[in-house]
Amino acid sequence: MAGTNPSGTVQDVASKGEVPERYIHKESDRGALNAPLMAAPVIDIGLFSSGPELEKLRHGLQSWGCFQAINHGMSTEFLDEVRQLAKQFFGLPMEEKLKYSREDEMEGYGNDMVLSDQQILDWTDRLYLTVCPQQSRRFKYWPTNPERFREVVDEYTANVKLISEKILKAMARSLDLDESSFLNQYGERIQLDARFNFYPRCRNPDLVLGVKPHADGSAITILLQDKEVEGLQFMKGNEWFNAPIIPGALLVNVGDQAEITSNGIFKSPVHRVLTNSERERISLAVFYLPDSDKEIEPLEKLINETQPRLYKTVKNFVGLYFEYYQQGQRPMEAARI
Ligand code: OGA
Ligand code: NI
Repeated sequence: MAGTNPSGTVQDVASKGEVPERYIHKESDRGALNAPLMAAPVIDIGLFSSGPELEKLRHGLQSWGCFQAINHGMSTEFLDEVRQLAKQFFGLPMEEKLKYSREDEMEGYGNDMVLSDQQILDWTDRLYLTVCPQQSRRFKYWPTNPERFREVVDEYTANVKLISEKILKAMARSLDLDESSFLNQYGERIQLDARFNFYPRCRNPDLVLGVKPHADGSAITILLQDKEVEGLQFMKGNEWFNAPIIPGALLVNVGDQAEITSNGIFKSPVHRVLTNSERERISLAVFYLPDSDKEIEPLEKLINETQPRLYKTVKNFVGLYFEYYQQGQRPMEAARI
């Protein structure tokens, strides 16, 4: 059944040592941490009023599909507090964490959701929370321990929402469009989902993947990386590159829905996470998702003879996303003309 958890948390599995069959990838799908560093730009998002920074943004999103955002208004101390609280949560005794266990939906604490029998499971445990719209919050999944968890998640995601909107405006302007072009399509009632990822150490890290290759179903994703432990890789031209750690930066990537809106100009990059045998890794991904009632389609002004329309009009892309994922297909294929 979708969502049920036949194998326990990865944290439990990891503590037993042996890597179960369900987590082992075939040799050609495995990865290595000694990849070259990716060259996605570092962008001062306080300078979006200037031409050169917009140009850097456009180029970064066309080539890598991601960039590192600095000068976003959140202090490194605050980001460290977010990281610290996530670490404290995953460090709680199992029985305490299980109070927030995922039930029949995506939200809550648990291991990789099982969507199909052939699925090889990700070496990760997660806490998944919908934070926006506010009325959608299901507080039974929101930890009250550590004490400041809720308050800090609230503050962090409120900031991320504003930062995302600033970036989506800049993305439109970088294409010589009205700044609201992307945002208007996504609607007033956007959804923000926060996914805390915990990657336990693995005795045989070469056999598993923290997260298998995927592109995000969001419009954009804002990732707070672990400050010390690498593992995230992006694909470009069929090659894998390591995402560098910049402690004060947020890693922003295009998701499938902004690729659709931009008619393929901005790339929703395929990425994955590797684990290691020495240190656990924690990250926080926040997905900026259009209102599921809104129609997402390539902007009229980005369709012309040299750039014909590449994608259909889609609605509730996230629903579609999981349907395709379940069949082992890239969800974007559902949208391609
Ligand atoms: C994700 C993701 C990357 C990471 O949650 O979709 O790609 O570094 N996470 O944890
Ligand atoms: Ni992702």
